[in-house]
Amino acid sequence: MRYFIGNWKMFGVPKSISILNKINSYYSKDKNRNKYRVIITPPYTLIESYSKYFKNKKILIGAQNCYQKEQFSSNTAAVSSYMLRSVGAKYTLVGHSDNRAEGDTDAMLKDKVRYAIKNNLKVVFCIGENKLEKKNKKTLSVLKRQLAKVLEKKFNRNNIIIAYEPIWSIGTGKIPTAQDLKKTTIHIKKVLKGIFKKNSPAVLYGGSVDGNNVEMFKEIKEIDGFLIGGASKTSKKFIDIIKNYYR
Ligand code: PGA
Repeated sequence: MRYFIGNWKMFGVPKSISILNKINSYYSKDKNRNKYRVIITPPYTLIESYSKYFKNKKILIGAQNCYQKEQFSSNTAAVSSYMLRSVGAKYTLVGHSDNRAEGDTDAMLKDKVRYAIKNNLKVVFCIGENKLEKKNKKTLSVLKRQLAKVLEKKFNRNNIIIAYEPIWSIGTGKIPTAQDLKKTTIHIKKVLKGIFKKNSPAVLYGGSVDGNNVEMFKEIKEIDGFLIGGASKTSKKFIDIIKNYYR
């Protein structure tokens, strides 16, 4: 199974559903549709209405984050996995670099993953090195640490997807070389096998993915799909990624 996950970040109002309608109609007719899943993570404000609308359709709706407590608490503006699930979310991102930069620690991320799984959300756990770590050749050790600090064998690996997103690549148009990316993805899968003592969960790539560079990424068979930011806000750009992936 391959995954094309669109992360809308701070984008979208109710009428933006027209973008997803176009993606959904492409997806419903695509002869390759059984090979992949499309998940969109709109902002919190749209999760309930979009989930209802796409309930019996192909697209699945997820959240971009969740709070690190189980159900209800007295944290102003916080939204838990339980609350997300109650309005139809099926997935949640955890550990996006935007949120790590805003103060998410490994301990917080561990609770987010734990409670998301407990509340029947699938977790897309994001990891990635920054520019300096890359320059200092620390990429593999940073990724290993990010995985080992948060994931545990007792977490159901069937509910976990990993998204490798080098921070220097997010929204910049810069992407890793095919050679580096292959090596990194294999490394991530090896670390995951070590944690779960079983086959690795799916590992996605994210960072400036578009309809052109997907041609390069698709040659790396170890990559199980993509987390797509900028290019998920336009139906054509998002559909082009899928089209070119299966071309
Ligand atoms: P980008 O964002 O595709 O715009 O680089 C990816 C992400 O942040 O998930």
